[in-house]
Amino acid sequence: GKVGVLYGGRSAEREVSKMSGAGVLAALQSHGIDAHLFDTGERSLAELAAEQFDRVFIALHGRYGEDGSIQGALELLGIPYTGSGVMASAVGMDKITTKNLWVKAGLPTPGYAQLDAGSDLAQVVAELGLPLMMKAPHEGSTIGITKVTDAADMQAVYDATAALDDSVLAESFVSGREFTVAVLGGGANARALPVVEIVAPQGNYDYQNKYFTDDTQYFCPPQLDAAMQAEMQRLALLAYRAVGCEGWGRVDVLLRESDNTPFLLEVNTSPGMTSHSLVPMAARATGLSYEDLCVEILRAARL
Ligand code: DAL
Ligand code: MG
Repeated sequence: GKVGVLYGGRSAEREVSKMSGAGVLAALQSHGIDAHLFDTGERSLAELAAEQFDRVFIALHGRYGEDGSIQGALELLGIPYTGSGVMASAVGMDKITTKNLWVKAGLPTPGYAQLDAGSDLAQVVAELGLPLMMKAPHEGSTIGITKVTDAADMQAVYDATAALDDSVLAESFVSGREFTVAVLGGGANARALPVVEIVAPQGNYDYQNKYFTDDTQYFCPPQLDAAMQAEMQRLALLAYRAVGCEGWGRVDVLLRESDNTPFLLEVNTSPGMTSHSLVPMAARATGLSYEDLCVEILRAARL
């Protein structure tokens, strides 16, 4: 049948999604699948319905693409879609709610506080220590994330972050190595792919170093003992299940250097599929090509 690749969209990650969508389209077409791009940022839901797609691959990132809203629209239209359902998408897009669920499940995540205009920022610094990370909880690709090293900057950083989002997350800074674990499948059949380590210039894995420079190094498998790799995979699967994710996703993990303790940072329910992206890298390490990965994700599409 006819497959739609939803891409572009209206979030701050629109340009990333265009790269993901172009890659997914080419991959599906290389398998003889009748796939077409559909930009949800430029076209309406009525036009989406009129396309009569038999299923869609969601290559959107961020708001209106990864947050349950397009998933809800596809449910109403009766079109099977890739990845997580409405609730897991909405939860995964919100770093605070994700962490609330993980804490409830006994999973390790850096200490945090949800801030609003009435928060006592000095108290937050006293609780979480410095440096701390201030994050717009509904963004991706490192957009809206600032490291605060000086208490005097708290108010200004809070104001700038609050301008981007309707809530603000403050999180203890964990000094250590950065890893990610891709997960494929759902429920009892979910499986973790090999761990990837990310080594960015000056430890700065930001928007630029994610997509546009070749200065970031990736190691899959990483230089890490097998027991810790297995532990990260185990935690990532529990984290993915705690949020109720399906289809595919990617859990970001920090390994604190002082005591070799892993911490879960967030889950991405519609991870990047660009040429620099991490899920394709992990898949390749198991012999699964980018093209086959896209087909596997598409096959699991459901309502
Ligand atoms: N938010 C980007 C697309 C990622 O997690 O890969
Ligand atoms: Mg993210």
